[in-house]
Amino acid sequence: MKFHKTILATLFLMCISASFSTASDVSRLQEPGRKLNRDEWQRPVEVMDALGVKSGHRVADIGCGFGYFTFHLAARVGAEGKVYAEDIDQKAINKVRERKEREKLSQVEPVLGESADPRLPLDLDVVLIVDTYHEFRDYDRIMQAVFRALKQGGRLAIIDAEAPSDRPRTEYHRLHSIPADLVREEITRHGFVFKESRPGFYDAEYGKKMYFLIFEKP
Ligand SMILES: C[S@@+](CC[C@H](N)C(=O)[O-])C[C@H]1O[C@@H](n2cnc3c(N)ncnc32)[C@H](O)[C@@H]1O
Repeated sequence: MKFHKTILATLFLMCISASFSTASDVSRLQEPGRKLNRDEWQRPVEVMDALGVKSGHRVADIGCGFGYFTFHLAARVGAEGKVYAEDIDQKAINKVRERKEREKLSQVEPVLGESADPRLPLDLDVVLIVDTYHEFRDYDRIMQAVFRALKQGGRLAIIDAEAPSDRPRTEYHRLHSIPADLVREEITRHGFVFKESRPGFYDAEYGKKMYFLIFEKP
């Protein structure tokens, strides 16, 4: 009897520790240089909820880097969905591919894009661009490609850092930030409808204050 109780208690503890490691691994694995847990300030679950990301959805993470959002999205869309993790940096794509293979996540599709062409497939439900819009030199062509790739009613999120509005457009990539009003103006020019500005984020490690804009393809 005592033996059975010990076995049950051990199994219970194993289950608890397995569930803890599954939840935290989604975040912990991809950002080795960071000391703070990004989930605490980036609130990925709230971001995905605001965009209505669901199981089975086809989504793209443009400028995915090492895949912080890619793997959160992969957990949300599940094996029936797809996450196109796009970046122009081969090293970032390699990292995402390594993790996708290690964790056997067939729903993650790494895509090596070009600076003016994210090489997206069509019929996407959601496109996420985090801390990357300011990097685009060919923003008009990229946003035309995003517009084509999204379904009617599909959503686009831009999360980026606020910047002073009096600088020449060509300076924002160097500042690693861009004014939210300018982003709204540029994106709506391509046919997107601005839906809302959600509560933003503060990355204390890099001292970055970020906004969160949502658009829709009508
Ligand atoms: C600051 S990182 C953000 C990474 C990721 N989104 C995150 O939040 O952790 C910016 C990323 O944008 C990528 N990038 C720069 N220009 C790009 C372009 N034209 N198309 C796609 N990705 C680009 C960079 O290679 C880099 O991985």
